[in-house]
Amino acid sequence: MNINPKGLLLTLAVTIVSTASLFAQKFEELAQTPPMGWNSWNTFQTNIDEPLLKGMVDTYVSSGMKDAGYVYFVLDDGWMSMERDQNGNLVADPKKFPNGMKEFADYVHSKGLKFGIYNCAGTKTCAGYPGTRGYEYQDARLYASWGVDYLKFDWCNTDGENAIEAYKTMSKAIRAAGRPMVFSLCEWGQHKPWRWAKNVGQLWRSTGDIGLGFEKNINKGGWTALSVLSILDQQDSIRQYAGPGHWNDPDMLEVGNGMKVNEDKAHFSLWCMLAAPLMAGNDLRKMSDQTREILTNKDVIALDQDPMGVEAFRFYAFDGIEIWVKPLSNNELAVCFLNRSGRPQQVSYNWKGHPMVDAVSNTSFDFTQTTYKMHDLWSKKEVGSTAKTFDETIPADDVIVLKLTKE
Ligand code: GLA
Repeated sequence: MNINPKGLLLTLAVTIVSTASLFAQKFEELAQTPPMGWNSWNTFQTNIDEPLLKGMVDTYVSSGMKDAGYVYFVLDDGWMSMERDQNGNLVADPKKFPNGMKEFADYVHSKGLKFGIYNCAGTKTCAGYPGTRGYEYQDARLYASWGVDYLKFDWCNTDGENAIEAYKTMSKAIRAAGRPMVFSLCEWGQHKPWRWAKNVGQLWRSTGDIGLGFEKNINKGGWTALSVLSILDQQDSIRQYAGPGHWNDPDMLEVGNGMKVNEDKAHFSLWCMLAAPLMAGNDLRKMSDQTREILTNKDVIALDQDPMGVEAFRFYAFDGIEIWVKPLSNNELAVCFLNRSGRPQQVSYNWKGHPMVDAVSNTSFDFTQTTYKMHDLWSKKEVGSTAKTFDETIPADDVIVLKLTKE
């Protein structure tokens, strides 16, 4: 696309104005759309235990998260005892889980949810609990016996290990254990897993850890927690590697954890545009109405879960305004206007000026040939059609998300 800062060719004029059958899934069918769930890490780190988590499971159902499509309940780091038992088996920390992990898994399943757990390819997990290195087949069998449906597998304490081999070994171990589990690779994109993990697992982290920042990274002393926007900027170049059953994972959601409402809304919208796994990471028991409305917006979730599984691409960027475009099945299209300029901006976009063409999905949308009606997925209103210029002011750090359907 020809972007001319002087505005001659621009059609975007930016003006600064200020249950059982549920679990009978085959390996091949896993994660045909990006996995959706909840993970304990972002809010609780290793401070997890059975009463807290059972309360979270209950709220998962009563809050409408389950009805919105979230299904995995994933325990992150910190669920284990510091030592394996005399047979080399991992043990759930008896103080945190007095009834053991099988009982907890059964509780999760009894609510119609699927159960996920965490470990690490190294000798120890990132928080120092026993890692899986050398115990891959034994650990996979144990997880299968507990009824685990999802394994997140981290990359701490892996000196001398070959990432591709380590993740392949665990993948084979899960298959050998016989219970289909979504396998979530978490090596932070260090070895470009998008190039080799398609047949190893169903999702792979593409960056380091997310933090509670929309624009700016946060220095954590020794490591950097990445902002929503810096993670976003690392996704565009790897979008061709994602698709049904194999997803880029830009990390779990920070929605409801302390960013501004508009930032949460933008974060969630962008992750849905990216066909990202949607792992909520907030305290569901204390979720505000605004947070719940964001996390359970079915129309926005439907973009994420679109069966074609195409990640959005950055179609336009100028002066802090970006247009992200996600081709959908049924010849529909999602368009996200992102204002990352830090100040309110007015956009005036003439759809007919440029066709939206995507070589990855082999789709194109020519607005001179076809008129699309537009539905605003946050205001939940019909907002005209592509026959006319789209004029709107976008607040700072916010988005407008439109779904375009042929008229
Ligand atoms: C790493 C992962 C996080 C989390 C922690 C747990 O940092 O990237 O998502 O699992 O380890 O210690």
